[in-house]
Amino acid sequence: MSTAHPYAQPMLRDNALQGKTIVVTGGGTGLGRAMTTYFLQLGANVVISSRKLEVLEKTATELREQTGNANVLAVQCDVRKYDEVEALLEKTISTYGGVDVLLNNAAGNFISPTERLSHKAFDVIVDIVLKGSYNCTLAFGKRWIADKKPGTILNIVTTYASVGSAFVVPSAAAKAGVLAMTRSLAVEWAKYGIRSNAIAPGPFPTEGAWSRLFPEPLASQLDPAANVPLKRVGSHQELANLAAYMVSDFSAYMNGEVVTLDGGEWLNGAGEFNKLELLTSEMWDQIEKTMRR
Ligand code: HXC
Ligand code: NAP
Repeated sequence: MSTAHPYAQPMLRDNALQGKTIVVTGGGTGLGRAMTTYFLQLGANVVISSRKLEVLEKTATELREQTGNANVLAVQCDVRKYDEVEALLEKTISTYGGVDVLLNNAAGNFISPTERLSHKAFDVIVDIVLKGSYNCTLAFGKRWIADKKPGTILNIVTTYASVGSAFVVPSAAAKAGVLAMTRSLAVEWAKYGIRSNAIAPGPFPTEGAWSRLFPEPLASQLDPAANVPLKRVGSHQELANLAAYMVSDFSAYMNGEVVTLDGGEWLNGAGEFNKLELLTSEMWDQIEKTMRR
C-alpha cells in the first residue's frame, strides 16, 4: 500500500493499459506529461507530440527512466498542419503496429481583453485548439474507419467550454467547438466502434497555464483555489487517474460524456445565492429575525 497522499495515488490496476498505443498531443509538458507518465506505468505505448522536439525528447528520456517503460516515442508535430498530423499517425503505426487512442491535449491560451486582440492572436488560439483537434480527429478517425479498427478519442476541454468566459474568448470559443465535436462524433462514429469523450479540468497548476493565465501582478492577488468549494487546486495524478479510466476498456460504455474535474468551481460561479457563503452565523441570525418579523 502506497503511503502517498490520496490525491497522488494511482487508481487503476497494474497493466490496465497493456498493449494499448496512445497518442498524446502536447505530451511533453504539464498535464499531457502527467497523463503520459501514468499511461506508461499502466503498460501502454505512448507517442508524445508537439512543436518542440527537444522538450519531447527530454521528457521521453526522463519518463523511460521514471516508469521503467521504454515504449515512449517523441514525434514533432504542429497540430495545425494536417500533413504533420498524418505523418504523426504513420510514425505511430509503423512503430507500434497500430493506434488505439487519440488524446487531444495540445492547447494555446492567454488572458486578454478581447478588443485588444489582433485577428492573428485570435487565430493562433483557435488554430491550435479547434483546428488542431479536428485535424487529429479527422486523420485518426479516417484511418480507424478504413482499417475497420475501433478507436477512442479523449479531448481535454475546460469548464468554460460549456458556459463561456470573459478574457479568454478565443480559448472559450475553440474549446466549445471541441466539446460540440466530442458530442457529435460520439453519435456519428459509434457505429465504427469509435468512442468520443472529454474531460473539463478546473485549475491544475502547470507552468504553461499559470504563466499565461496568472502572470504577475495577477498571481499575487488572485488565488486560483479561492473559488473552488473544496478550497484547493487539482493534483496531476487525479487528472491522470480519470484520463486512464476514460481511455481504458473499463469505460467502454462511456460515450459523448464530458467529465468535470474542478472541485465544484464552475457551479460555485453559477449559483445565484452561492455568494451567501460569505455570511457569518451572526448575520444569519439577524437576517432570520428580520424575515420572520
Ligand atoms: C495578446 C498575444 C499574446 C498576449 C501572443 N499574442 N501572446 N496577444 N496578448 N499575451 C499574439 C501575438 O502578438 C501574435 O499576433 C499572435 O498572438 C501569435 O503570437 P505568436 O507568439 O507568434 O504565436 P506562437 O509563437 O505560435 O505561440 C502561441 C501562443 C503561446 C498561444 C501565443 O502562448 C504558446 O505557445 N502557448 C502554448 C501553451 C499554452 O498556451 N498553454 C496554456 C494552456 S492552458 P500579431 O498580430 O502580433 O502577429 C488552457 C486552459 C487553462 O488552455 C484553464 C485554467 C483554469
Ligand atoms: P501546457 O503544459 O502549456 O500544455 C500545452 C501543450 O500544447 C504544450 O506541450 C505545447 O507544446 C502543446 N502545443 C501548443 N501548441 C501546439 C501546436 N500547434 N501543435 C502541437 N502541440 C502544441 O499546459 P497544460 O496546463 O498542461 O494544458 C494541457 C491541456 O489542459 C490543454 O488542453 C489545456 O487547455 C487544458 N486545461 C488545463 C488546465 C490547467 O489548469 N492547467 C485547466 C483546464 C484545461 P509545444 O509548445 O512544444 O508545442
